[in-house]
Amino acid sequence: MGGDGDVVMWCSGDMIPGVVNVTAPAVWKTHIKEVLFSQEAISKRVAEMAAQISADYAGKEVICVGLLKGAFVFLSDICRQLSVPNVIDFLTVSSYGHSTTTSGSVKLKKDLDVDPRGKHIIIIEDLIDTGTTLAWIQKHLSSKDCASVKLCTLLDKKSRRTPSLNLKIDYVGFECPDEFVIGYGMDFNEHYRCLPFVGVLKPSVYAK
Ligand code: IMP
Ligand code: MG
Repeated sequence: MGGDGDVVMWCSGDMIPGVVNVTAPAVWKTHIKEVLFSQEAISKRVAEMAAQISADYAGKEVICVGLLKGAFVFLSDICRQLSVPNVIDFLTVSSYGHSTTTSGSVKLKKDLDVDPRGKHIIIIEDLIDTGTTLAWIQKHLSSKDCASVKLCTLLDKKSRRTPSLNLKIDYVGFECPDEFVIGYGMDFNEHYRCLPFVGVLKPSVYAK
């Protein structure tokens, strides 16, 4: 599943509307139900978000903390459009394993390399679902005397949020319907992260 096979250029006119000039394994094409956010839509929105962050942090330095692995594409796109001085770091936590729903228990696998004390931190996330992961990270950072901690996500599955977490998201790219999505850094069983758009995975792929 999702593994071997030819790498081909997916072209407009192929079976997935909205996909243009994507180079990817041919078999993955058959795994995608629809494209939710195209390469073009994402790139426009990421530029807007970068401009907003640059304006909000004018005169300050920010530490952009990407949550690995899902945020690696979003972080690399957004950080290259910031006009404020910035430092890039990563956190790795695990909560999903090989499933499509969170296990609910978050484990820290890699902490920050930089000392966040006195620094303005922006957590960069691919997708907020229940909010468990970000709530855990906020708590993790709350003892570290950061100057500020803000949350930035490309996608927000708002309808799935655990209300009691009271999570305030400072920067949201798009609201996301309650579907399992892949691409633009997001995976199922580590596949599909390299697709340049966000698509809905066919349930038949993960129901196997
Ligand atoms: P939360 O802790 O429930 O908010 O889950 C957030 C994490 O789960 C994010 O880091 C995502 O990478 C992952 N996740 C949630 N929904 C999806 C999805 O539809 N596709 C891929 N990853 C997802
Ligand atoms: Mg993630």
